[in-house]
Amino acid sequence: MKHQELLKQMTLEEKAAFLSGKNVWQTWEFPHLGLPSIFCSDGPHGVRKQAGAGDHLGLNASLPATCFPTAATVANSWDEDLGEAVGSALGEEAASQEVNVLLGPGLNIKRSPLCGRNFEYFSEDPYLSGKMAASYVKGIQRKGIYACPKHFAVNSQELRRMAMNSVLDERTLREIYLTGFEIAVKEGKAKSIMTSYNEINGVYANENKHLLQEILRNEWGFDGIVITDWGASNDHVKGVAAGSNLEMPSPGLDSAREILRAVENGSLTIDELDACVDELLDAVLTLTENAKKKPTGFKESEHHNLARRAAEESAVLLKNDGGILPLAPGSKVAIIGDFAVEPRYQGAGSSMVNPTYLETIEKSVEKYDLDIVGINRGYKRNGEEDAALKKEALDLAAMADIVIYCFGLDELSESEGMDRTHMRIPQNQIELLQAIVQVNSNVVGLLSAGAAIEMPWHYCCKAILHGYLSGQAGASAMLNILTGKVNPSGRLAETYPIKYEDTPAFRNFPSNQRNAEYRESVYVGYRYYDTSKVRVQYPFGYGLSYTTFEYADVHADENGVTFTLSNTGTCDGAEVAQFYVGMENGKIFRPAKELKGFKKVFLKAGESQTVTIPFDDKTFRYWNVKTNRWEVEGGTWQIMIGASVADIRLRTTVEIAGTEAVIPYNKEEMSSYYSGLVQQVEDEEFKKLLGHEIPDGKWGGELGMNDAICQMYYAKNPAARLIYKILTNLKKKSEEKGKPDLNILFIYNMPFRGIAKMTNGMVSMDMVRGMVTAVNGHFFRGMKQIISGFFKNSKENKAYTAKISRK
Ligand code: BGC
Repeated sequence: MKHQELLKQMTLEEKAAFLSGKNVWQTWEFPHLGLPSIFCSDGPHGVRKQAGAGDHLGLNASLPATCFPTAATVANSWDEDLGEAVGSALGEEAASQEVNVLLGPGLNIKRSPLCGRNFEYFSEDPYLSGKMAASYVKGIQRKGIYACPKHFAVNSQELRRMAMNSVLDERTLREIYLTGFEIAVKEGKAKSIMTSYNEINGVYANENKHLLQEILRNEWGFDGIVITDWGASNDHVKGVAAGSNLEMPSPGLDSAREILRAVENGSLTIDELDACVDELLDAVLTLTENAKKKPTGFKESEHHNLARRAAEESAVLLKNDGGILPLAPGSKVAIIGDFAVEPRYQGAGSSMVNPTYLETIEKSVEKYDLDIVGINRGYKRNGEEDAALKKEALDLAAMADIVIYCFGLDELSESEGMDRTHMRIPQNQIELLQAIVQVNSNVVGLLSAGAAIEMPWHYCCKAILHGYLSGQAGASAMLNILTGKVNPSGRLAETYPIKYEDTPAFRNFPSNQRNAEYRESVYVGYRYYDTSKVRVQYPFGYGLSYTTFEYADVHADENGVTFTLSNTGTCDGAEVAQFYVGMENGKIFRPAKELKGFKKVFLKAGESQTVTIPFDDKTFRYWNVKTNRWEVEGGTWQIMIGASVADIRLRTTVEIAGTEAVIPYNKEEMSSYYSGLVQQVEDEEFKKLLGHEIPDGKWGGELGMNDAICQMYYAKNPAARLIYKILTNLKKKSEEKGKPDLNILFIYNMPFRGIAKMTNGMVSMDMVRGMVTAVNGHFFRGMKQIISGFFKNSKENKAYTAKISRK
């Protein structure tokens, strides 16, 4: 082991305590060993360091930091250099705030548009997700900070996120849900990774040897530390045995005692414990050394400008009928919409940043050559009707030549801890839009939303510029595009289906049972729509520009594909050339197209460039569930270059030699998967895909430690059912107010064990066992366990603290 000397000096108690957090953000320190604590902070698009009371739900204030556009936004840039620049700025801010581990980027796959955290994730496509995540990781780590890609893995639903089991076949796991992480680890060289809350095929991510050892460390060569999501440790001993190094946030010393007991009874070997401690020691020592070179501060204005550039490169122009955009200088414009005054620029939850400065359209527009006839909020963002406000907006719209309508998803729709229940924007915003177009047909829609929405109203807008959640400098970025100072170059990193019912997982998402069944397999996002020929509103990879591009002269050989890209319009601009592969009549079922490369190319008006996209180890591979490894199907492969998945401009083929592996599927038995029509996969076929029986995920019987608090609906004890009712009412009330109450949401979805894991040693697992006993109707037995557990826990905590407080 690398730190043999230190390991020798550490007592067993110190080692055991070291593997879980001291408080919400820090590890234990042991000054007599020269071992300080390290500090973790969210997050993905800005540093959220809490100097005061810590919480992990974005509730208490954090130090000011640049709020960059969220991952869902920057993914639309398809620009790895930009990702690296943002990452590096994040790393610099983290370092200057004495943060050692930055908890991000988040790269879970957008299995459904309804996942509440989609705004924090990159894409529905693993390749794009992975490349963008790797670029952030490189940037962050360049500043001596560890990036922590999250949430590893298959965590695509917020509902009961801490108490659910993702059931999927190995091929889907590898190709869709792990490939992004693989790229972040292998190419980004991530030095830490965060395990997700959920189980994967019945085993919690944090104690999943297949995931953490076989895949992460053995196959991918990961040499960093594994950190649990906050409260994601189920059985700490199993976690350590699987190679999870740090249980967060602060389970108190109960977790440490579990380790001691396990060593004593032989269920955990000293070698296993030491290996875990050694890796964490290495991280703490490296990070402490790196922190000595920390910058004293960062240039707020430079980072603000970078946030603006990121927003500009990421905004997607969805529609521009008659070339209404860019706006001509001096245009007579009315600005309508609450978001113009109070922008929606980030989501809620642990990623919530306290920005150094926040631009608004209302204030920023003064600097542009536009004749502004007025600015009006138009609608209430909580969805309430307001006739007076509406009338004012319509009067204003009638006075202008062009209306810029600022609208989109409200705060309640996009938050950690809850999934959306539909894909619509609030009805009052739509009604106002439909009324505006009656008095002024020149409507430019300026959308803010971190996830895909339905757009049955799109005909009301002549142009739609989608800024996503564009961070603190989003307002000027959007105005720069609207006025033509910047040519839009963002392309959608996710599909916009016409309606929710069209989405591949809509029958299985979110799962209301214990198990989330990934019946749609690899057909996620465009892989489904494109293969099954389902019409969509806007396809993956789509976006307009103020100029035009032409593709020509394609040539492919075994190393890659080359073509010529020309800017044939009248202004400079950037195009995102996308490379997809497919195979007709293959023996292995697969999507019609899969993204395997891309390049964002900036071209001056009239300029041409030869573009080469090399093939890599992922271009032709598929996971074979029989041979249990990556294989290649030999034959004629389609090589497609497009401006979106639905706009292929060049096609050619290459002959690829295969690995001649046994075909793992029987086509006759798996017609849904061979056709891609996966919305209604029956049990028999899903069983074939899984290669075993479908695990029973129905609730029933007594509640257990791992059932969520909201399952107290089934409790035998009437008092527990009453608590459930009270919680449900509180949740409902906060939803009605239009702002999610993250505390309630967290408690609602938290399993019972979380009570011990999140209370800094106040509650032990024994006490929680007592609570569960009481909830199950054995009130007195449960209470006895809780009370005796309380005294035992307090006594043992004191004794343990004394043992690890050597100076
Ligand atoms: C979130 C993580 C976050 C952590 C710490 C958890 O609730 O899932 O993404 O990093 O809290 O705030």
